[in-house]
Amino acid sequence: MKKKKRLSKTAQVNLLMLADLGIPEAVHFQNVLQFSHGVLDVLRHIPMASSLPVCISMVSEILYERTNELIRKNDHPIILDLACGYSPRVLRVCDSTHIYVGVDLPDVIEELRNHREALLSFREETATDYYSVDLTNYDEFRELMKQLQGEVTVITQGLLTYLTPDQKQVLMDNIRSLLETTGGCWIIPDSEPARLLPELFQAVLGEDGAALFQQVMAVLDTLVKRDRNKNGWRSADEICTDLVKNGFQVQRVPLFSESLKLYSLHQVSQETAQKIIENWQTTDALIITAGTKPEN
Ligand SMILES: C[S@@+](CC[C@H](N)C(=O)[O-])C[C@H]1O[C@@H](n2cnc3c(N)ncnc32)[C@H](O)[C@@H]1O
Repeated sequence: MKKKKRLSKTAQVNLLMLADLGIPEAVHFQNVLQFSHGVLDVLRHIPMASSLPVCISMVSEILYERTNELIRKNDHPIILDLACGYSPRVLRVCDSTHIYVGVDLPDVIEELRNHREALLSFREETATDYYSVDLTNYDEFRELMKQLQGEVTVITQGLLTYLTPDQKQVLMDNIRSLLETTGGCWIIPDSEPARLLPELFQAVLGEDGAALFQQVMAVLDTLVKRDRNKNGWRSADEICTDLVKNGFQVQRVPLFSESLKLYSLHQVSQETAQKIIENWQTTDALIITAGTKPEN
C-alpha cells in the first residue's frame, strides 16, 4: 500500500470515532461509506490498546466541534476544508448561504464523489464540491483557486504533522495567495501536537499514558513514513513564528469553549473530564489572516 493511501486510513479513523459517538452527520457518512473498524487492528498488539478509541475519540470530537464553532464565528461564505478526509462537516456547516469545498488526494476524493448523492442526501440545500488537489503542489492549488469566488474560511485539521517543512512552505504560500485574493481566514485547530494526545493519554491512563502514546505514534510514523520531529511545528509558538515570518497575522484562541457539548467526555469519570478540559483551556487553536485582522 502506498504512503498516501495509508494516510487516508487516518481519515477513516476520524470518521469512525465521530460516528461511534453518535454525532448524526458522522453516523450518516459512516452508514454510506461503511468503513471497517479493522483499521485500528494495526495497533492491536500494543498493551492497553483497548483504551485507544476512548482517547482518540476525544481528540477527534474536540477538533471537529471547535473548528465548526470557529467556522460559524468567522462566517465566510466558502468553507474550504483542506485535507478534508471523510469529514461529515459539510452537513453541519453548509446551508443556503455557505458553500463547502472539500479537498484531498485522489483516492479520497474519488470515494467521496462516487457516494456524493447518498452522502449529501441528509440535507436539502447543499452546495458542495470535492476537488482532488495535492496541497503541496503550486500548480494544482492555483487551479483550485480559480473555482473560489468569495471570502473563504480555510481549514486544515489533522494535516500538518504529515507534511515536511518544505511541503509546509508550499502550503503556506498557497494559502497566503488565496487569502490575499479572496479575503477570509485560515483555522488550525491542532496547533499543539506535542501536547494534545500525550496529555489526553495521561489524563485517561495516568502514568501508562506516556508509554501508550509513544507506542501508538511509533506504529503510525512507520506506517505513513513520517518523521514527526524532523517535520517540526510541534507547538503553537513554533507554528506562529513561521506564520508571522511568512506574512500572516495570527490570533490564538483556546481549543476549549464552554458552549461545546461533547459526547466523548461522558466516557470518562468527571474528574478525568475536568482535567482534560483544563488542558484544552490552555491549548491554542489558531485563526490566521493574510493582511486584515481576524474579528474574534
Ligand atoms: C488525519 S486525516 C484528516 C482528515 C480530516 N481533516 C479530518 O479531520 O477528519 C489526513 C488527511 O490529509 C490528507 N492529505 C495528506 N497529504 C495531503 C496532500 N499533500 N494534499 C491533500 N491532502 C493530503 C490525507 O489524504 C488524509 O485524508
